[in-house]
Amino acid sequence: MAGFYRILTLVMNLLMLFQLCSIVSCSTSNSITRNQTIRDGDSLVSNDGSFEVGFFSPKNSTLRYVGIWYKNIEPQTVVWVANREKPLLDHNGALKIADDGNLVVVNGQNVTVWSTSAKPESNNTVAALLRTGDLVLSSDSDRNKWYWESFDNPTDTFLPSMRVRVDPSLGENHGFVPWKSENDPSPGRYSMGIDPNGAPEIVIWEGEKRKWRSGPWNSAIFTGIPDMHRVTNYIRGFKLSPPDRDGIVYFTYVTINSSDFLRFRIRFDGVQEQFRWNKDAKNWTLLQKKPDTECENYNRCGNYSVCDDSKEFGSGKCSCIDGFEPVYQDQWNNMNFSGGCKRRVALNCSQNLVADKRDGFKVLKRMKLPDFGSVVPLNSLVTCKDVCVRDCSCNAYAVVGGIGCMIWTRELIDIERFKLGGNYINIRLAGSELGGKEKPKIWIIIVSVIGAFLLGLCIWISCKRLKAFLWKKKDLPVSDTRDNSVNFKSSPINVLVGDQVDTPDLPVFSFDSVASATGDFAEENKLGQGGFGTVYKGNFSEGREIAVKRLSGKSKQGLEEFKNEILLIAKLQHRNLVRLLGCCIEDNEKMLLYEYMPNKSLDRFLFDESKRGSLDWRKRWEIIGGIARGLLYLHRDSRLKIIHRDLKASNILLDTEMNPKISDFGMARIFNYRQDQANTIRVVGTYGYMAPEYAMEGIFSEKSDVYSFGVLILEIVSGRKNISFRGSEHGSLIGYVSFYSFQV
Ligand SMILES: *[C@@H]1O[C@H](CO)[C@@H](O)[C@H](O)[C@H]1NC(C)=O
Ligand SMILES: *[C@@H]1O[C@H](CO)[C@@H](O)[C@H](O)[C@H]1NC(C)=O
Ligand SMILES: *[C@@H]1O[C@H](CO)[C@@H](O)[C@H](O)[C@H]1NC(C)=O
Ligand SMILES: *[C@@H]1O[C@H](CO)[C@@H](O)[C@H](O)[C@H]1NC(C)=O
Ligand SMILES: *[C@@H]1O[C@H](CO)[C@@H](O)[C@H](O)[C@H]1NC(C)=O
Ligand SMILES: *[C@@H]1O[C@H](CO)[C@@H](O)[C@H](O)[C@H]1NC(C)=O
Ligand SMILES: *[C@@H]1O[C@H](CO)[C@@H](O)[C@H](O)[C@H]1NC(C)=O
Ligand SMILES: *[C@@H]1O[C@H](CO)[C@@H](O)[C@H](O)[C@H]1NC(C)=O
Ligand SMILES: *[C@@H]1O[C@H](CO)[C@@H](O)[C@H](O)[C@H]1NC(C)=O
Repeated sequence: MAGFYRILTLVMNLLMLFQLCSIVSCSTSNSITRNQTIRDGDSLVSNDGSFEVGFFSPKNSTLRYVGIWYKNIEPQTVVWVANREKPLLDHNGALKIADDGNLVVVNGQNVTVWSTSAKPESNNTVAALLRTGDLVLSSDSDRNKWYWESFDNPTDTFLPSMRVRVDPSLGENHGFVPWKSENDPSPGRYSMGIDPNGAPEIVIWEGEKRKWRSGPWNSAIFTGIPDMHRVTNYIRGFKLSPPDRDGIVYFTYVTINSSDFLRFRIRFDGVQEQFRWNKDAKNWTLLQKKPDTECENYNRCGNYSVCDDSKEFGSGKCSCIDGFEPVYQDQWNNMNFSGGCKRRVALNCSQNLVADKRDGFKVLKRMKLPDFGSVVPLNSLVTCKDVCVRDCSCNAYAVVGGIGCMIWTRELIDIERFKLGGNYINIRLAGSELGGKEKPKIWIIIVSVIGAFLLGLCIWISCKRLKAFLWKKKDLPVSDTRDNSVNFKSSPINVLVGDQVDTPDLPVFSFDSVASATGDFAEENKLGQGGFGTVYKGNFSEGREIAVKRLSGKSKQGLEEFKNEILLIAKLQHRNLVRLLGCCIEDNEKMLLYEYMPNKSLDRFLFDESKRGSLDWRKRWEIIGGIARGLLYLHRDSRLKIIHRDLKASNILLDTEMNPKISDFGMARIFNYRQDQANTIRVVGTYGYMAPEYAMEGIFSEKSDVYSFGVLILEIVSGRKNISFRGSEHGSLIGYVSFYSFQV
């Protein structure tokens, strides 16, 4: 019996020894050092066993290449090749560290056929395959000192956590070059990379000729791929990293689940494909490929022509932009679109012409932005339109969320009309091409004036405590309704906002980019503190100034719901509402990005002796009218009916021309302070502005806002704060006013 146990112990010890050995060999087999050699047949495997570097032959070939592939995936999927231009003819090659410290591939005669060609400080280097699939040459004594990495020298595959440099000073980055054919890794004639000029975009070239482009990056998606959100994910996916130590930014890709295998590859025929490994089916799922549709082929329609893939027109149908005509009409009629279009009436850039002779703009919606746009930083005194008007070579401009002002001074090419998404672009046309645009304007002005007048009337009446008179018919206390269609009225809003409207999709900014824009939410960038969070001033590159509202407090909504709510709010656009430029939702952080208002808020002028003088009666009248129009839009004319619930002087911001803009609208919606009957209510708002029935019973409706608006008017007219009467015999500004109005 004792003998049996002794044998058992011996076996156990042997087993442990064996395990120890395998652990040791495992931990060393992801790297090679100076006196090691990887011969054909051997390989290095990354620590987690995902990737392998070694020798392989493509299908139907006896040539040998050194490459990296996924270890446990069949058929072998090669993501990187070292000696793609100089294959080994037999199985006698080797991979080793050369005398100069570089990693080299040598053939059977010890002749180097490939080298990392780096300049290590000494030959004391080590090459290791990381779990991301990156082969790294570093100093053996300091593993963080990298001399070379395969991720910086890619072949045809882009892997998550790879970085692609975006540096305008280096010009176009043709970093990814596909195989020559399916079974030949030598460099083909296509390439894929980044055009860093303007807003960066991905481009596929055939030689120097463009074959496809992604459209400019808007901080969340490539604008030419409007459905990118659906394929990837709001937060994950492509990211432009914040500038590194040397001020260089990189595109990276973050997977949703880091255990997923994801790859982007440029195929030998110049088509980019994105795959995800399906662990269950054991094959690669194609997520997307580009170019895919007829219209995605670069510049399919020639100059000034729009490509349309929608079924009703037949895929790949081209049509000239309004105001342009085919260069060769008969070829065009025969569906040969290569000639493109030209202007019907030449522009006359002069500004000294009568209004309807002067150049103007026509807006196109849901567009892929043309190629070769430049991004123009704006100061607060000029609009994007001004920039284009002043530049006689400017053919179009667009205000793109997440990018800013873009103008095009070359011919407009590679334009596509999307079914959904896309951007608004304003095309410059001669005055004579823009008929009949004055009429609706007058109509709108009349409507707004009447609206403002009616609203003013309502307030006047309600101040006189006759409000029941107007709403006798039906009293609906709750109006924060979910159903957006209910309150939709066809309204003049589309015309009113003109070129202010932009992408239907709100750009999503990364936390990192917002943090770096606001100096990590520095105290000196703090603009104010409101009920819903703290507001910071942010500075994006190109000098774009924004206001960032970092929401505090817990929203009861889930992430998806929250996002939807913001998207709805973002669609509310009006010249008297502060424009929402984007948002940031990451983990527990929720932020809203607004346009920055240099004049800050109305209360700074109104209640400050030294500044009050700059508001003359005319200006105050305009401010009241502007707030009324904004409120009317929120209540009646927008798709969502929004009750502001916290209208007050500090929530009215002023732009450079002192036009009022209502801020903080929709906050009650975002925070889900909905009223379910009269009991579950949390009263938000500011005392002094709150309608009595709201403050006391929590009953709110448009009328509560109108009440606050009334208080605001009195403050604007009197220049005194409502609460400044506290302790006086009248108690409040309202008491004071009603006392004297009843005396009259
Ligand atoms: C590798 O080379 C170094 C010096 O060249 C030597 O000290 C070391 O023992 C060698 N290691 C092996 C495993 O041969
Ligand atoms: C590879 O070889 C097989 C059989 O020899 C042949 O059918 C196939 O066409 C070849 N493929 C290529 C790409 O040459
Ligand atoms: C490494 O470099 C040292 C000098 O820097 C040299 O003496 C030595 O021979 C080199 N070792 C190898 C293996 O090339
Ligand atoms: C190549 O070099 C290795 C060591 O550096 C040596 O052992 C081998 O004999 C050489 N082979 C040839 C063919 O020169
Ligand atoms: C990631 O994928 C693995 C395996 O497919 C799964 O077990 C894990 O739950 C996933 N993680 C997340 C965060 O989805
Ligand atoms: C992957 O496998 C699934 C299930 O076996 C199959 O339905 C699908 O067609 C395969 N896809 C490819 C691209 O082979
Ligand atoms: C299309 O038109 C171009 C000139 O605009 C001409 O060179 C080309 O041959 C035409 N192609 C066909 C198929 O007719
Ligand atoms: C497009 O316009 C540019 C500049 O006006 C011109 O050089 C080019 O020939 C035009 N392209 C075609 C296909 O007509
Ligand atoms: C612009 O129009 C004015 C007035 O019609 C004319 O005198 C001028 O020559 C035009 N300029 C151009 C560049 O066509």
